[in-house]
Amino acid sequence: MSRRKLVVGNWKMNGSLAANAALLDALRALPGAAPCDVAVCAPFPYLAQLQTRLAGSTIAWGAQDCSAHASGAFTGEVSAAMIAEFGCRYVIVGHSERRTLHAESDQLVADKAKAALAAGLTPIVCVGETLAQREADETAAVVKRQLSAVIHTLAHCTAQIVVAYEPVWAIGTGRTASPEQAQEVHALLRRQLQAATATAAAMTILYGGSVKADNAATLFSQADIDGGLIGGASLVAADFAAIARAAA
Ligand code: 13P
Repeated sequence: MSRRKLVVGNWKMNGSLAANAALLDALRALPGAAPCDVAVCAPFPYLAQLQTRLAGSTIAWGAQDCSAHASGAFTGEVSAAMIAEFGCRYVIVGHSERRTLHAESDQLVADKAKAALAAGLTPIVCVGETLAQREADETAAVVKRQLSAVIHTLAHCTAQIVVAYEPVWAIGTGRTASPEQAQEVHALLRRQLQAATATAAAMTILYGGSVKADNAATLFSQADIDGGLIGGASLVAADFAAIARAAA
């Protein structure tokens, strides 16, 4: 089954109005920069800027988190419907930085994915094991547990999400999972999705964790790796464009 590749930039807590303007204009101007689907996910205050700067381009945009709630007394939270109002297509949920630093549980991540779908957004649901878990041979069990909460909560709507496998030990470390290591987990995730939805073969499963211009092509050539979720390299237009080209 051939699936269209997707490359998503996760800016994390980086950027400024001026720096974003330069980066977005550079991305828009790059010839042949979008041989695959491309998106950038920015901090909330910049969603309006993405909407203005990327309107009419082939680049989609999104946020990096959303509330599991629709509205109400949740100071500091941002609902999926609010994010959708800024033309976003995607929202990342369950990034390991949120699971770790904000103690987000598997069920909360699943509830966020559900809220995203209800608002018409595509949640990019992140799963991944820590180094200690990998060394203890727990990788399969950990990602299975994380994805299982989402499948249980979304039921037949599971087919509408994007999954991102991000081994925690590969994030921001320069230490990438080998294409074989990543493929092994992607295949496992797809089998789990297959048990839940008839259209799992058409679902997008991204790899994230130190994806760079020079390692993207071999990662993306694996059978079940459908593109990448890119941190550091998404902040440099030329690097991000090179990764998108590697997905073509
Ligand atoms: P790096 O590409 O900087 O390792 O970050 C990966 C990531 O966490 C994307 O969500």
